[in-house]
Amino acid sequence: MQDHLPEKLPEQLKEKIQQLEQEASQELSSQSFDEQRLEDFRIRYLGRQGKLTQILKDIGALNPHDRPALGQLANTVKVSLTQKVSELAGALKKTQREKTTQETQIDATLPGRPLPRGTLHPLLKTMEDIVALFKCYGFQCAEGPEIESDYYNFEALNIPKNHPARDMQDTFYISEDVVLRTHTSPVQIRVMEKFKPPLRIIVPGTVYRHDADTSHSPMFHQVEGLLVDEKVSFAHLKGILTYFVHELFSKDVKVRFRPSYFPFTEPSAELDISCIFCMGKGCRVCKQSGWLEVAGCGMVHPAVFKAVKYDTEKLSGFAFGMGVERLTMLRYHIDDIRLFYDNDLRFLEQFQ
Ligand code: DAH
Repeated sequence: MQDHLPEKLPEQLKEKIQQLEQEASQELSSQSFDEQRLEDFRIRYLGRQGKLTQILKDIGALNPHDRPALGQLANTVKVSLTQKVSELAGALKKTQREKTTQETQIDATLPGRPLPRGTLHPLLKTMEDIVALFKCYGFQCAEGPEIESDYYNFEALNIPKNHPARDMQDTFYISEDVVLRTHTSPVQIRVMEKFKPPLRIIVPGTVYRHDADTSHSPMFHQVEGLLVDEKVSFAHLKGILTYFVHELFSKDVKVRFRPSYFPFTEPSAELDISCIFCMGKGCRVCKQSGWLEVAGCGMVHPAVFKAVKYDTEKLSGFAFGMGVERLTMLRYHIDDIRLFYDNDLRFLEQFQ
């Protein structure tokens, strides 16, 4: 290189400098720079092997007489390019800084992000609604154990061993004398043993029977009611249960008390309501009868009062028991009981 440098005419070098300046300023104005591109640009022109640096070296090789003028020209270009590069770098840093503050800044005027709210399970909702309705009539909520003795689940309720009525309920036995309660009725006994009449209790709870299909689950729920006082009649029972049906469903729903049998009540009845799907005309759900069975009920049997040492001469009372799954299925038009236990949010979220 040293060999041919002196041959270069100062004029040519001057042109080269001017060209380079033009080229560089064109590049600077036509491109949009990011930090990496700007650094590439700087290295290309001003770096140790850069175009301008090379020219400055070439000037150094000129004869002393030509150096000053060209050196000055090249230096002016160098200073102006260096300045432009540093200005651009400053501007890039500034926009970067602004961008990050924008991203991290909190906008207090934005609306909040709503948190998803949980809902009551439809079965729990029905139980709470039923309990609330009876509370209006002065009933108090009571509960009892799910693992129950044969005595409370059967004996004290006038269902002795070997009594054919035991076949009505497919029982899970834990031992000969301990069962998973098949109904909430044993709580009647437990409460009457502890408290003196008058009594009004409403008992929501989980019960168990060996049974499973689209309308039966081995674990299900009941709400039991018991009222004991002097001069309680079947008319009171009819009045309260009719009010209950009208409140839970609607006032257009008709009720009917159909004679039935339960060992712990006498007389006993099934509470039917006019079919809420066909308005009593007859459909698949009510099996063309126009009626739906929703609860068992009756006047407390004297044998039950005797078991808890209540005065059978002075006292009378009524009791009822209803299936929560069945009522909830009717209320919300649900046709498969298993939906209640699948824990599928798409199903459960519909009960907001
Ligand atoms: N325990 C009954 C059952 O599970 C329902 C029942 C019927 C409860 C009549 C009562 C009643 O209190 O009086 O099938």
